[in-house]
Amino acid sequence: MCGIVGYVGSRPCKELLLHGLERLEYRGYDSAGICLMNGQVDIVRRVGKVSALREAVGTSAHPATMGLAHTRWATHGGVIESNAHPIEACEGSGVTVVHNGIIENYATLRRELSAAGHEYHSDTDSEVIAHLIEECYSGDLVEAVRAAYARLDGHFAFAAAHRESPGVLVAARRGCPLVVGVVEGEMFMASAIPAFLSQTRKVQYVHDDEIVVARPGGATFLSGDGAVIDRGVDEVDWDEEAAEKQGYETFMLKEIEEQPDAIAETIGERLYRGRLQLDGLQLSDQQIRDLSRVVFLACGTSYHAGLVGRYVLEEWARIPSESDIASEWRYRHAVIDERTLVIAVAQSGETIDTLAAMKEARARGAHVLAVTNVMGSQMTRECDSVLYTRAGLEIGVAATKTFTAQVTLMYLLALRLGLIRGTIDATRARALLEQVRGLPDLARRTLGRRHVVEPIADRYFRNEFFLYLGRNMGLPIALEGALKLKEISYIATDAYAAGEMKHGPIALLEEGTPVVVIATDSHVYEKVVSNLEEVRARGAHVIAVATEGNEAIRELAEHVLYLPRTEPELQAALAVLPLQQLAYAIATRRGLDVDKPRNLAKTVTVE
Ligand code: G6P
Repeated sequence: MCGIVGYVGSRPCKELLLHGLERLEYRGYDSAGICLMNGQVDIVRRVGKVSALREAVGTSAHPATMGLAHTRWATHGGVIESNAHPIEACEGSGVTVVHNGIIENYATLRRELSAAGHEYHSDTDSEVIAHLIEECYSGDLVEAVRAAYARLDGHFAFAAAHRESPGVLVAARRGCPLVVGVVEGEMFMASAIPAFLSQTRKVQYVHDDEIVVARPGGATFLSGDGAVIDRGVDEVDWDEEAAEKQGYETFMLKEIEEQPDAIAETIGERLYRGRLQLDGLQLSDQQIRDLSRVVFLACGTSYHAGLVGRYVLEEWARIPSESDIASEWRYRHAVIDERTLVIAVAQSGETIDTLAAMKEARARGAHVLAVTNVMGSQMTRECDSVLYTRAGLEIGVAATKTFTAQVTLMYLLALRLGLIRGTIDATRARALLEQVRGLPDLARRTLGRRHVVEPIADRYFRNEFFLYLGRNMGLPIALEGALKLKEISYIATDAYAAGEMKHGPIALLEEGTPVVVIATDSHVYEKVVSNLEEVRARGAHVIAVATEGNEAIRELAEHVLYLPRTEPELQAALAVLPLQQLAYAIATRRGLDVDKPRNLAKTVTVE
């Protein structure tokens, strides 16, 4: 949550910072601000998206070659201009900060600093950082930040500048992301790489509990006690073009369409000439055979991918598996041991609850495998093994292509473990792998039927409630379809195990209530049909997702969204596609901003 950008160098940086903010807007977009420093401190803040800030600062050139900027997702303090960042300490102090995360002891610090004469002008927790730096400052910004940092509790990343320290930005992180962009003679710092990707692909990652001092000539990394840490420069292979809409009306639509590539890239060389290899999984064959349990931990859409993982792992690798929401699991006294494999799934690699659950799992002796889309993200440093999904940069706040990439990885993982454990016979595994290889094409065909989705959206976009039903592998897809619709269209949805419908949600059905039913071919198909009949009997309208060739279902459903035929388990990766398209088509008909739905943020770095 919240995006930070900083620049120090020789070029006027106003436009560089604004561009960086636009790239980070997915992290929060309720207000934004910029601070330009060139002997004087010019700060502009606005409630609303970065476009409002851009309008407020105008197009005239500003000579500043150093500055900080911020896009906010409110935690402490309402969405008003005085709570937007950059935040200054006392008037005339020259200290400015931008902050992402939460300062847990802010109330104590605020009281203490108030007593010492500091005057506050916001309701944020962030403001104490600025005052603390001001309090600790005696001519050396680095020392002041180090001293202030030592007093802060919580998880955060912040960057600070001082009017009297031209050409120096000092930042620190504990639990929230921060990365440095390296260009000759200038330095960027940001919450994420897209902020400076138009300028450089060279990055230096800031690790937890580190302070980084950026000057035009380079960045110095320090531990909390001031010791200098050597940090290499990495090169990322993302391109700026990927961060543009490339002619699509929204990022979300572009990302929905990119799913065949996301699936193909995630399979990549892992499947070569029928052989399945998962480099990155640091478990010996013996350890895999000895596993007694698998636990998937994740949040949001990634949790739904974990649910798919649970089904296929049980089916193919015959390992008792469960899937839990990270924020719940971390406070359970769950029973795990050295023979448990914990699979943490997060597209961002930064979700705070997933990170905390991983820590807990490792402390209790489990092997922790991270599945993420972001190289070098915090998760990859807090795990025993890592497998990357390769969906490319996802900017739309509602996850789409990262989900199908995660599901694809679940297939590969379950098949690999099944083969090693001898729980799936080689012929069946070969057939499944062959079908996995064909998924990108099938996804392309499925997405090509968008014209079938559009009239359904026309008919129901004014409805205020949708029910989603599924059984077995259809359940996580029902959950994900319902989440997509509520996230971007603000329509209330319920997603239920179809067999449970009779125990509650059936009471919600009325004449014409739209009910989306995942009714793809599988061993539970007949059961789903019975539930579908129960829905029809109450006058509700069924929108069925079914397998090509199933003509009979036309008699039972008002609308059918067909998927190409493939193995029942693999249909999960396809069934979600028309549901994403449906959510998208409905939200756009309601005139909503699908890339930036209200109140949400793409990366959730607060509990
Ligand atoms: C936020 C996003 C969701 C995402 C969830 C988990 O809520 O809006 O799209 O599924 O975070 O994110 P992660 O990075 O852990 O997959």
